[in-house]
Amino acid sequence: MISKDMEKAINQQINREFFSAYLYLSMATYFAEQNLDGMASFMQMQAKEEVEHGMKMYGYLEEQGARVLLEAIEKPDSEFDGPLDIFEKSLKHEQFVTKNIHNLVDQAIKEKDHATKSFLDWFVTEQVEEESSMDSIVNKLKMVGDKGHGLLMLDAQLGRRGE
Ligand SMILES: [Fe+2]
Ligand SMILES: [Fe+2]
Repeated sequence: MISKDMEKAINQQINREFFSAYLYLSMATYFAEQNLDGMASFMQMQAKEEVEHGMKMYGYLEEQGARVLLEAIEKPDSEFDGPLDIFEKSLKHEQFVTKNIHNLVDQAIKEKDHATKSFLDWFVTEQVEEESSMDSIVNKLKMVGDKGHGLLMLDAQLGRRGE
């Protein structure tokens, strides 16, 4: 059993994970239009991971006999100022998600809800990886100046994600 407050908080996070998927998909379509196919496929994979995060939480609520309540998903941005802008926004978004996950952990600790605390540990670790991967791409984009040959090399590299 988990508390009603915790149920509500995890439902909110499920919505944020699906919003993340939506945001990354929107970024993928922008990259596809710019012929940056590697970055488009990177963002598609990122979106799939976010759906998996949402589904992990969905599964946890069901396991705990709690109710999954799906809310409307906010419309993501569709206009961007190029790759650097996109990856900076992605990094910012991941930092926002990290903050939300940490708030959930704080709540679990406050409620002495050990099961949820232990469930959330995976997400805490995952967020470190998410932030670090976006941060490293932002730094590389700054290095290559967000254009030209360097950008194409980075696009090819990001397209190899998951191989
Ligand atoms: Fe996520
Ligand atoms: Fe993420």
